Parts: sequence; structure tokens; C-alpha cells
Amino acid sequence: MKITVRVWRQDGPEAEGRMVPYEVDDVSEHMSFLEMLDVLNERLTMRGEEPITFDHDCREGICGSCDLVIDGIPHGPQQTTTCQLHMRSFSDGDTIDVEPFRAGPFPVIKDLMVDRSALDRIIQAGGFISAPTGTAPDAHATPVPKNDADHAFDAATCIGCGACVAVCPNGSSMLFTSAKVTHLGLLPQGQPERRSRVVNMLNQQDAEGFGGCTNIGDCTAVCPKGIPFETISRLNRDLLGSLARGRD
Ligand code: SF4
Ligand code: FES
Repeated sequence: MKITVRVWRQDGPEAEGRMVPYEVDDVSEHMSFLEMLDVLNERLTMRGEEPITFDHDCREGICGSCDLVIDGIPHGPQQTTTCQLHMRSFSDGDTIDVEPFRAGPFPVIKDLMVDRSALDRIIQAGGFISAPTGTAPDAHATPVPKNDADHAFDAATCIGCGACVAVCPNGSSMLFTSAKVTHLGLLPQGQPERRSRVVNMLNQQDAEGFGGCTNIGDCTAVCPKGIPFETISRLNRDLLGSLARGRD
């Protein structure tokens, strides 16, 4: 395939950005989107031009760092991570726009790379448990109902990519925060901090400048891990419980 990518280029956090078109030929449909960018970067380097800065690590849908907006959609046209999006999702002759995740709390570092450490600080505010360390307990020492274990596991699949924030007109990180609150709040080990966790994480979310949730639901449509909207309802139930009973 021969395609044109229009890529957001920005020299640094304070620099002005612009879309720059590049033609890329010999694109295989089996390439991932990131491999296509690798090929483009190789050619830019060979021509003595500055390669495009973009974030990535695992390239297998686990780390959440490959945060690109492709044709206006975080992670592109398939509901998956950008590293698991393949060029077979596009056609010969296509023009594809590639931009960084856009949200106030995600400042651009360079080109397509943004700083998502605001999400880390929300986790630091409450996404942990206090458990005695030492020898690992027997697997069945703390019984967990199957339903709770399944829902906790589903919530734990959130990879902190931030696509939910990037797509939300409010720039809200509520789906992310609710996944972390749900993951720990459904397990016996997460109960000691359950009431303070939800309040502390939401306070941090506000302090980072993320918007509030107004039930738009775009977040679930782009989430590569399919975190359901009802996860936000669970967070709201935890919050009401905390406010009613007081924090720990
Ligand atoms: S909830 Fe989904 S979209 Fe949001 S950070 Fe987690 S994995 Fe990414
Ligand atoms: S590079 Fe790790 S999820 Fe895409």
C-alpha cells in the first residue's frame, strides 16, 4: 500500500505544533501501526530529517503507552491499542491523521508523546492496599466469591492508557479511576482503605485538572480493554457510601 500520514509535529512543550504530511510506500497490511511509523522514521533518519517522537513499550497491549489519536479516534478505528492496530484496517491511497492524545492534564512533550503521569498520581492517591508482607498465603486462605473475582479481574485489565480521557469532551478520567477503585474495592484485601480510597483518588483527579463525568459514554467505546460504563456506577456507590459513613 501507499499511504499519506499527516503527523502532528511539535518541537517541545512550549513550541507551536503543526500537521506535516509524509508519503509512505511499501506498507504491508501485516504491519502494526507503530511498525509503519518505524519505517517512516527510518526513512526520515536516512534523509537526515528529525524522526517522529512517539511513545511505546510492550507493543502487545499491556503497558498502555502507545497513545495516538488516529483519524480523530484515540487508538484508531479498531477498539484496541495502537500497537495492536494493523495496517490492514486501512486502504491503499488513504490519508491518515495522527495526533497526540489531547487533554489539559496530558501536556505534549514532543510530537506525538504526551506526559500521562497525572494518571500515576491518581493511583498514588489511593490505588493500593495495606497487606502484611512475608510468606505468600495459601491460595484459598481468603475466599473471594467468583462473581467478585471475575469483576475485579475485568477492572484490573485497565492499562492506564488514557484513551478514555482523550475521547471525553470533558477530559474526564472517570473510567480509569473507577476501574482502579472497582478492582480493589471488590476484593477482601481492598476493604481497609475502601472508604478513603475513592475520596482521595477523586480529589487527586480534580487536582490534576481532569473534568467530571456527565454520562456521555464515549470512554467505553474506545477503551481497548472494554472497561464497562457500570464501573463508574460502582465508583459512585462507593463514594456515596464514603460520604454517608465518613472516611476511615
Ligand atoms: S479505562 Fe480503558 S481507556 Fe481508560 S485508561 Fe483504562 S484501559 Fe485505557
Ligand atoms: S506499546 Fe504497550 S500497550 Fe501499546
